[in-house]
Amino acid sequence: MRRETRAYAKINLSLEVLGKRADGFHDLVSIMQTVSLCDDLTFAPAEAVTFTCSQPELAGPSNLVVRAAKLLRQVCGVSAGCSIHLEKRIPHAAGLGGGSSDAAATLRSLVKLWALTEPKDTLCRLAAQLGSDVPFFLQQGTAMVESRGERVTPLPDPPTCWYLLAKPPIQVPTAEIFGRLQRTDWSDGTRTHALTSQLRQGGPVQFGPNSLQDALFSAYPLAQDCFERVSQVSEGRATVSGSGPTIVAWFPSQDEARRAAARLEDNQLALFVAASIASRGRKQPCA
Ligand code: C5P
Repeated sequence: MRRETRAYAKINLSLEVLGKRADGFHDLVSIMQTVSLCDDLTFAPAEAVTFTCSQPELAGPSNLVVRAAKLLRQVCGVSAGCSIHLEKRIPHAAGLGGGSSDAAATLRSLVKLWALTEPKDTLCRLAAQLGSDVPFFLQQGTAMVESRGERVTPLPDPPTCWYLLAKPPIQVPTAEIFGRLQRTDWSDGTRTHALTSQLRQGGPVQFGPNSLQDALFSAYPLAQDCFERVSQVSEGRATVSGSGPTIVAWFPSQDEARRAAARLEDNQLALFVAASIASRGRKQPCA
């Protein structure tokens, strides 16, 4: 039977890099939040794994959707295939986790399409193998994310919040920004843990620091320019999402977010107004 699913984008409410690991990745502590900007995926039974995308340049075999399908098929010894279509709306290489979310949606949907009974642990392990942000997207909602990204601790859903997302016309490779980090960009996670405690107690959404911000701004001045403009229309409530270049600001209502978007009046920026999306059902840690 054909299945359709949504893959939501994420923003980082806070992101602290704690240090560099022996495997070349960085240890971090972050708070991630899914938002209503999304891609749509369709899965249908087929003999082989095939993949099409509304942006043909993303339709190659290296797309995380194809890698997720093939990995799950191999690990679970599945002989069936599936034909997958991805309708892409989340900008690519934007700090919004679009590819990672597509991969997690693929794992979740194919478990159902192929009637697999793999335990959640296996899915978490495969998700972490596909990318640092993929485990978070199995859960969605609001969560604290630690280690390389694979340790995910769900947090209570804060009241619905509206976000303005502004993406300058550049694509930023995550690896490049991590590669540019200086030791002075590292921190001890205190501010993110404090924000986590506030959210656990039902406190309002606030942004913490983003350790990748300075590295992003020095390599991509357009991102800094966008940050300054979004700060102006949001009374300073702006932050960088992930490794950028998307800048996010929060608003208490959709109207206020829309008015801020109108004030930016810039056809160079891709602008989205999105609501926070709550977690999917059970709140189990993914570690
Ligand atoms: O895991 P993912 O493939 O999404 O990461 C992309 C790149 O970002 C990695 O190759 C690495 O350079 C960097 N990264 C990192 N530490 C993390 C996550 C990502 O250094 N925790």
